[in-house]
Amino acid sequence: SHVFQLRSKCFCCSLNALFVLIFRSMKRCVLFGFLCAFVTCFLCGWQRSVQNPTFYPGRVNVTILLWYWPFGRSLSLKGDVCWDLYQIPSCKLVDQQSYFPTANVVVFHNKELVQGHQKLPVTLSRPPAQRWAWMSLESSAHNGNLQKFANIFNMTISYRRDADVPVPYGELLPVEREEQLAEDNFMNKSSLVCWVVSNYRSHYKRSQVYKELKAIVPVKVYGRWTKTPLSSEDLLPTISRCYFYLSFENSVAKDYITEKLWKNAYQGGAVPIVLGPPKRDYEAVAPPHSFIHIDEFSTAKELGTHLQQLTKDKKRYAEYFDWKKHWKVKVYTDWRERLCKICLMYNNLPQHKVYSDLQSWAVSLNNT
Ligand SMILES: *[C@@H]1O[C@H](CO)[C@@H](O)[C@H](O)[C@H]1NC(C)=O
Ligand SMILES: *[C@@H]1O[C@H](CO)[C@@H](O)[C@H](O)[C@H]1NC(C)=O
Ligand SMILES: *[C@@H]1O[C@H](CO)[C@@H](O)[C@H](O)[C@H]1NC(C)=O
Repeated sequence: SHVFQLRSKCFCCSLNALFVLIFRSMKRCVLFGFLCAFVTCFLCGWQRSVQNPTFYPGRVNVTILLWYWPFGRSLSLKGDVCWDLYQIPSCKLVDQQSYFPTANVVVFHNKELVQGHQKLPVTLSRPPAQRWAWMSLESSAHNGNLQKFANIFNMTISYRRDADVPVPYGELLPVEREEQLAEDNFMNKSSLVCWVVSNYRSHYKRSQVYKELKAIVPVKVYGRWTKTPLSSEDLLPTISRCYFYLSFENSVAKDYITEKLWKNAYQGGAVPIVLGPPKRDYEAVAPPHSFIHIDEFSTAKELGTHLQQLTKDKKRYAEYFDWKKHWKVKVYTDWRERLCKICLMYNNLPQHKVYSDLQSWAVSLNNT
C-alpha cells in the first residue's frame, strides 16, 4: 500500500503540473490552471484519507487484547501500531486487561498458560461475541497437554496453515521485477555442510541424522552447544560460506517449518537440507527446487554422495537459486505483526466456533 500511495501521489503531481502547463501555454486563464491544480490536490488528499483509515472517523475498529506478552517481553503499542508498522487498517491492538469488556478478540499465548504462570479470566463474564484465541508457535511436542483447554477457545493462531489465523515463520513474496542473479553471491563457498544448533539432544531425530552424515562428509557445527558459538551478526555471513545448511527442526510436525529454513538457509544463501514435516508440506510453502529433503535418501551415504556431486557441478548447484529471480523471503519475528494479522482475517472468521478438543486439533496431522 506504500507503493500504491506513492503511485497515486506521483499521478496527482503530474496531473497537477499538466494542468498548470496547458493553461499557461494557452496564455489564457492562469487562474483557472491554479484552480484545477487545487482541485486535483484536494482529490488526492481525499484519496489518501480513504486509504488511511485513521482519517476516517466513522470506521469501526477491531480491538485485539493481548492478555499478557509471550515470554514476558513486551513491545510498544503506542499510536496506531497495526497501521503505522504494517499498514493494516482499523485494528486496535491493546495489552491493558481493562479492555476486556469491549475487546473483540482476547489472545492467550500457550506457554504461560500451560506452565501455570498465567490464568484464563474465567471469572469474568465473557461478552457473547468475543472470541478467545489460543496462540502458539511451538510444535505439538512442545505445547504441553492441552486437554484442560477443551471448550474454551474460539480460534487458533499458529504456524499451521489450517489455523484460523496462520502465522508462519516466513513466507514468499513475489519480486517486483525479475532480478539478475549475481552468481558470486552464492558461489563463494568454503564449507560443504554447516549446521547451527543451540539445543542438542541426542534423542532428537536430527541428532541421529547429523551423526550419520558427519561420518560421510565434513559437517561444520556452530552454536551454543559447540565450542564455536555464533553471534547473531555472524550467523548469515557464516552460513553464506556453506554449500548446504542443515535446516533440521527440533520436532517433526505438520507445517512446522521455522526460521531454520526461512532465515538461516534462504537468507544466508545456502541450500537447505530439510528435516521436518513431509516433503509436500515444504512444497506447499517453499520455492520450487530450493531444498533437499532428507526423505529423498534412504541412507546418509546416499545423501553425502549426492551433495558432493552437486558441488562439483556448478550449473546444477546454481539451479537451486533460480527461484530468487521471482521470489523473496519474508521472515516474521514481531508478535505485533502476527496479532495485527487477526484483523485481516476477522471478517472471515466463522460466526460461531468452539475448539471442543484443542489437544486433538494440536496433534492432528491431516486436516489441511
Ligand atoms: C479507530 O482507531 C483509530 C486509531 O487509534 C482512531 O483514530 C479512530 O477514532 C478509531 N475509530 C473508532 C470508531 O473508534
Ligand atoms: C570470498 O570469501 C572470502 C572470505 O573468506 C573473501 O576474502 C573473498 O573476497 C570472497 N570473494 C568474493 C568474490 O566475494
Ligand atoms: C466462544 O467460545 C465460547 C465457549 O465455548 C462460546 O460460549 C461462545 O459462543 C463462542 N463464541 C463465538 C463467537 O464463537
